[in-house]
Amino acid sequence: MTMRLNDDEQAMLDGRDGPAVQRAMDLLVRYGTALGAQRMVDTNNVCGTVGATMPFLRDYATRKDGGLDAVFSEFNLDSPDVLAIPKVKAYSSHLQQGLDPEHAERQNVGSEIVKIYRAGAAYTAKLGIQPLNTCAPYQVGNVPVKGEHCAWMESSAVIYINSVLGARTNAEGRESAGAAMLTGKIPYWGLHLDENRGGTHRIELEIDVVSVADWGLLGYYVGEAVQDRIPVIDGLHSVPNLPKLKHFGAAAASSGGVEMYHIVGQTPEAPTYEAAMRGRRPVETIRYGAAERRLAYERVNTTAKDAQVDFVMLGCPHYSIEQIWEVCQLLDQQRLSANTELWIFTAKATKQLADQAGYTKIIEDAGGVLMTDTCSSVGRVMPKGTRVAAVDSAKQAHYLPAIMNVQAWFGTTAECIAAAVTGRWNGGYA
Ligand code: F3S
Repeated sequence: MTMRLNDDEQAMLDGRDGPAVQRAMDLLVRYGTALGAQRMVDTNNVCGTVGATMPFLRDYATRKDGGLDAVFSEFNLDSPDVLAIPKVKAYSSHLQQGLDPEHAERQNVGSEIVKIYRAGAAYTAKLGIQPLNTCAPYQVGNVPVKGEHCAWMESSAVIYINSVLGARTNAEGRESAGAAMLTGKIPYWGLHLDENRGGTHRIELEIDVVSVADWGLLGYYVGEAVQDRIPVIDGLHSVPNLPKLKHFGAAAASSGGVEMYHIVGQTPEAPTYEAAMRGRRPVETIRYGAAERRLAYERVNTTAKDAQVDFVMLGCPHYSIEQIWEVCQLLDQQRLSANTELWIFTAKATKQLADQAGYTKIIEDAGGVLMTDTCSSVGRVMPKGTRVAAVDSAKQAHYLPAIMNVQAWFGTTAECIAAAVTGRWNGGYA
């Protein structure tokens, strides 16, 4: 069945707004039809990526017939022809990039690639896309409200805005997000619809989930258990803050494909267990106690063996200003080990705050560095010769060994800072 389009959508499909918008609408119609969507929904909040600094695109952007319209045409609109890309129709933000231009040398990124970054920044501005350059746009001003229809990429951000903010998005791809930017439309299916937002699995907590690392482990366990379904966390006796929910969601989205969860009494669509389930019975009830936590800890730490740590990577998802402040407290005027590097990733806007608050200087005085726009997994950037990393993110522990062929220890932020100072892993908190 083909989708029903309104007059405006049909006019875009007929070419009223030019070939790029026509191609974008055509892509959305094909995408929506394949998924069984009956219509489009308006969106005025799109988070996607249009640049060419990601490692997989760098070669393309440096080709003679490259250029950023060509990249947008091929990788955002699936068009073999190079189209002139107009300004975006929807309020749009750029997600993470493939490098930090201010620390390119330290990231072992050459000047040619930095040139691509700068060209991409100018291109993004020309199209009217906000250069937030972060995987956590909700920390730097893009905070969708409950019920707002969005079109976001980036699994950790998707799960956050669906679950914690009550906004509505599916996990979009580079193509659908690019097309949504140009049209202000996205197929109305999946998590845009009330009936698909109810819980499927009940997770009964038998232990307290306290620290950010605890929440990461819970997310990792739950994601593996429910895959791409919707868990409902029940039995929580405390109020998790933004970093905890951020790490929980990022972990659940990486070990499984979770795009939404509920926490009874906490998240906006779960005032009660029954409301979270939307009247349905759970397909399974899963208990989470000390043994499950231990199992999650062992799984997250499967690659780690050597106690000597070369690299501590923090900021996955990108750190909030609160987390940077916490790191400064933990550093407490200590110097890093001569054998260990500490890189902390955040959004540019957050780094400006950190600069003003003196946090950047505290980190640099200790021997670390605050970086923006990217991270080790996405940009494939690490200190040369890294063999063993330490992270406080279950998501990063999941991806980094596979992408960069290193060992990765997972633990609390305090354990990571201790590793950066001593050069050795002394974790084992779980
Ligand atoms: Fe962000 Fe990189 Fe983690 S983009 S969510 S810091 S893998």
